Amino acid sequence: AAAGGHGASRYVFDELSAGNDETHHIAAGYDADILLRWGDPITADAPEFDVMNQTAEAQLKQFGYNNDYVGFTALNDEGTRGLLCVNHEYTNEEVMFPGLGRQDRDGFAGMTKELVDIEMAAHGGTVVEIAKGADGKWALVRDSRYNRRITPHSTEMTISGPAAGHDRMKTNADPEGMTVIGTVNNCAGGMTPWGTYLMAEENFHGYFWTDVVDGEGKPDISAHADAASKKRYGVPGMWYNWGQHHDRWNIDKEPNEPNRWGWIVEVDPRNPDAPPIKHTALGRFRHEGAETTIASDGKLVVYSGDDNRFDYMYKYVSNGTVTEDAGFGSDLLSDGTLYVARFDADGTITWMPLVHGEGPLTAENGFASQADVLIDTRIAADLLGATPMDRPEDAQPRGDGTAYVMLTNNTRRKADQINAANPRPESSFGHIIEIKEEGGNHSATTGTWSILVKCGDPAIAEVGAQWNPETSENGWFGSPDNCAIDADGRLWISTDQGSSWGKTGKSDGLYALETEGAGRGTSKLFFRCPIGGELCGPYFTEDQETLFLAVQHPGTDGTKDFKGFERDSVFEDPATRWPDFDPNMPPRPSVLVVTKQGGGKIAV
Ligand code: FEO
Ligand code: CA
Ligand code: CA
Ligand code: CA
Repeated sequence: AAAGGHGASRYVFDELSAGNDETHHIAAGYDADILLRWGDPITADAPEFDVMNQTAEAQLKQFGYNNDYVGFTALNDEGTRGLLCVNHEYTNEEVMFPGLGRQDRDGFAGMTKELVDIEMAAHGGTVVEIAKGADGKWALVRDSRYNRRITPHSTEMTISGPAAGHDRMKTNADPEGMTVIGTVNNCAGGMTPWGTYLMAEENFHGYFWTDVVDGEGKPDISAHADAASKKRYGVPGMWYNWGQHHDRWNIDKEPNEPNRWGWIVEVDPRNPDAPPIKHTALGRFRHEGAETTIASDGKLVVYSGDDNRFDYMYKYVSNGTVTEDAGFGSDLLSDGTLYVARFDADGTITWMPLVHGEGPLTAENGFASQADVLIDTRIAADLLGATPMDRPEDAQPRGDGTAYVMLTNNTRRKADQINAANPRPESSFGHIIEIKEEGGNHSATTGTWSILVKCGDPAIAEVGAQWNPETSENGWFGSPDNCAIDADGRLWISTDQGSSWGKTGKSDGLYALETEGAGRGTSKLFFRCPIGGELCGPYFTEDQETLFLAVQHPGTDGTKDFKGFERDSVFEDPATRWPDFDPNMPPRPSVLVVTKQGGGKIAV
C-alpha cells in the first residue's frame, strides 16, 4: 500500500504537500523538466527570443503564449520520436510587453498595431518534433520539417460540414464562406484515433470589437441584423482591441466574421502544408475541448463542454465507423450528429440530437437549415431544454463507456437555480460528474450519471464538499479544469482556480483521483504550479512513462494582492520569474515533461 493512508488508491507515489510559492513541485522520485517556454525558437531559422524587442515576425517562429492543451503522436514504433501539439490559448499583455501597465491594458492605450500583431502571432498552436535521448530526457528537434506555428495572424484554414459556404459564413475577404485566417482562444483539445490534432475554439467572443457603444461605454449591437445570436454568444466581448487595427475583428465592418469562430479545428501534424479544417458539424459554442473515443459500435465520439455559466455539455457521434484508412479531413468529423445533454434527477442522462426539422428546430423558430442549427448551437440547445451546468470544462471519455466531466465552478447560480447535476448554489469550487453510457457504448443516446466528487475543503462544513475520507489535507482541490486518463484507465485532474486561489491557499496542480472500488473519490496531489499559474495539459504517452504538463500565465492569477503588492506592471514586478529566474526575463508560460527517475511507468 502507498504511504500516507491511501491504501485504497491505485496511484503509487508519495503525495506532495499543498502550498504556494515561486516555483513548481513534483512528487518525490520524479523529474519535471522544462521542455518549451514562450519565445523559444522552434524552427531552424527562428531568431533567439529578445523579450525587450519582440516582433510578430520573430513570434511566428517561436513558441507561443499561454500553452494549454498538449497532445502527442508518435513518429516511430518505440515512441521515442513524436510530434508535440500545443494550444496557445490567450495572451497577457501586462506580462509580455515592457512598459505596458495594467491601466494601459484595460484601456488599450498602449496597444499599438505592432503589439496587436505580436499578440496574434503568439496565439494559436505549435507543432514540433521532440525526441527522447539516451538519458531518457525529451528535447526539441529544432530542424525538423514538421515544426510550425498555427496562428490567427496568418494561417489559412478551410471550413467543412453543414455550415461551410452558408451566407452567414461569408465576409468581404471570403465571399465563398469557405476559408478563415486562423484560430483563437484554443483551450483544451484532443487527438483523433488517426493521429490528428483537434484545437477547441473557446472564448472567441472576446476578440470582437464594435465602435458603437451605449452611454455606459458598453457595446450596442441593436442595429445588427442577428443581434439575438450575437447576444447569446457574448459578441462582441471587446477583451482585445484587434478590431481597432484589423477590420475582420470589427463587427461593424464584418458582421458575419464571428460566425466563423467557436468551432473545432483539425490539424494534420504530419503534413505542415495542409491547411487546418474548421469542422462545423461539431457545433459552434465556447468549446473547452474535444476529446475523442471509438464507441463499441465503431463510431467516432467527441465530447465537448461549452465553458460558460449555465451552458451545456455536448457530444458528437459520427454516422460512419472508424476504419484503418480514416485520416485528416475524414467525413467522420463532418457527417454525424451533435447532441446536447439533459441530466435528470433520477440519474439518467439523455443526449438530445440537434437536427434541423426535429422537435422545435424548425424554420418557424428561426432555423432555416442545419447550418443555422450549428451556427446557433446554443439557441438550439436552449429550445431542447438542455441542463444548464456549472461551466463544463474538459470531458474525458474512457474506452469502457465512461466519461468524466469537469464542472469548474459557478458563483452566479442562485439557490432557486440548482438542479440535481449542479446541486450547490454559488459554487466556488466545482464538481466532477461521471457518465456511464448505456451498454458501455459511447454513441448511446442515454445513460446514467453520478457526482464523483464535490470539490473544496472538506474541513469547512459550509463548503459542502464530498470526498472519500481517505483524501488528505493536501489531496483535495477546487475548480477542476482539464483531465486525462492514463494507460491504466486512471483519472488525473488539473485545476484552474483563477484569481480565487487565495480561497484555498493552494497553487493549481495535478491530482490523481481514484474512480474505482473502496478508494473512489480519493484524491492525491502529484504536481503543483508556481504562484499565479494555472495547470493545463495533462497528457500521458501510451507507454505511461512520460507526462506532459503546461503551466499557463505564471505570476499573474490572484497575485495583485499577493503580499500586499499592487502590481501596476506585472512585467517589471512579477510575483515570480519562473522558470528562468532571470531578473531580465518576465515569467514565461512553459510546457514541462514529467518522467520517473530511473525510468518506468508513472505512479505505478
Ligand atoms: Fe480556457 Fe474553460 O478554460
Ligand atoms: Ca483552463
Ligand atoms: Ca483532456
Ligand atoms: Ca478554467
